[in-house]
Amino acid sequence: MSSNKNKTVLVAGGAGYIGTHTAVELINAGYDVVIADNLSNSDLSAVKGVEQIVGRPVPFVQVDCCDIDALRREVFARYAFDSVIHFAAYKAVGESVAEPLKYFRNNLDSLLCVLSLMKEFDVPNIVFSSSATVYGQPETLPATEQTPRQRANSPYGLTKQMSEDIIQDTVAAIPFLKAIALRYFNPIGAHPSALIGELPKGVPANLVPFITQTAAGIRKELSVFGDDYDTPDGSCLRDYIDVVDLARAHVVAVDRMVQGRSTERYEIFNIGTGKPVSVLELVRLFEQVNGVPVPHKIAPRRPGDVEKIWASTDLANSELGWRAERDLGDTLRAAWAWEKHIRGL
Ligand code: NAD
Ligand code: WQD
Repeated sequence: MSSNKNKTVLVAGGAGYIGTHTAVELINAGYDVVIADNLSNSDLSAVKGVEQIVGRPVPFVQVDCCDIDALRREVFARYAFDSVIHFAAYKAVGESVAEPLKYFRNNLDSLLCVLSLMKEFDVPNIVFSSSATVYGQPETLPATEQTPRQRANSPYGLTKQMSEDIIQDTVAAIPFLKAIALRYFNPIGAHPSALIGELPKGVPANLVPFITQTAAGIRKELSVFGDDYDTPDGSCLRDYIDVVDLARAHVVAVDRMVQGRSTERYEIFNIGTGKPVSVLELVRLFEQVNGVPVPHKIAPRRPGDVEKIWASTDLANSELGWRAERDLGDTLRAAWAWEKHIRGL
């Protein structure tokens, strides 16, 4: 822990779902943290939640990462960073199909600005939020980091593939730069304190927020998208990773670069549990651990969904020394506690 003293991490997009949880874990591990976010998909109350959990103020700058002058002036010139974690992106897959330019502009430009300023200010380490979406539907499972990427079937997914490539080429050209891309599988849950969690805007596209809102009576029923897949119960298989476990993966990734343990200057790690869980299993487990019904019906397949995907976590286990620890039932309890907290139930 003491080796992290006085090391400062810029958490770009740090007011969001994964960023807030990561800020908490970084601070718990002894890092100083600065959160930069334009609040396009988050709220200042999330930063307050982080401060409540860690029991101290956390520097926050409201800034658009695509505004390089503001980012330089308000963030990079004001603090001396050792590392950046880049979460700042739009993430709604469906919206990205309808508005591709919005996604290419924001997700790519924010990364380009951050990398340019890292070069300008000699900031050596970046962790990037990538996604299992880069694999599409792998032919063999589990997906390892060597599994070939397939052309993403959404502009959102394409921005993740392009961002990985941009980082790889930038690292190759800048000798002091190191990067780790973490390919997240399906992040779910909330902090056990119920003080931070996911704040979806409008009707949730993702499964767990839809489940919690249905359990809370905000949605009438959950549609299970397809029960005729080639899976044990016919519903899709995913690898659901607890957001606190995921947050810890960012801390060990930063540790690895700060402590000079990277074996390559650009590395990629899958971050998942390695365990496939079906949609129907997840719904039943939620009902069981929380003692609340989730009305649901079988609906047609959702266009664009992959049938099944889960992670090989061998590399994260052996190289990062990280593994998922939280029990899925506890994760679903935390998701429900967070929904009740924000609804005042
Ligand atoms: P989120 O929307 O909760 O957080 C992203 C944050 O970035 C938000 O607070 C938003 O206001 C901010 N932001 C967006 N554009 C910005 C900009 N130009 N300048 C400054 N701030 C900006 O999303 P999340 O679930 O926390 O995801 C974080 C990252 O992880 C994203 O890059 C996302 O693509 C990636 N990811 C998420 C998932 C998932 O299922 N949640 C899975 C894989 C990868
Ligand atoms: C999970 C499963 C649905 C909602 C998405 C992005 C991916 C990554 C993570 C960012 C699927 C089913 C869902 C519902 C359902 N994000 N489902 N009823 O699609 O695996 O991944 O989030 O990088 O890029 O695509 O996650 O939570 O939407 O769906 O039956 O109302 O739940 O069909 O099988 P997905 P999800």
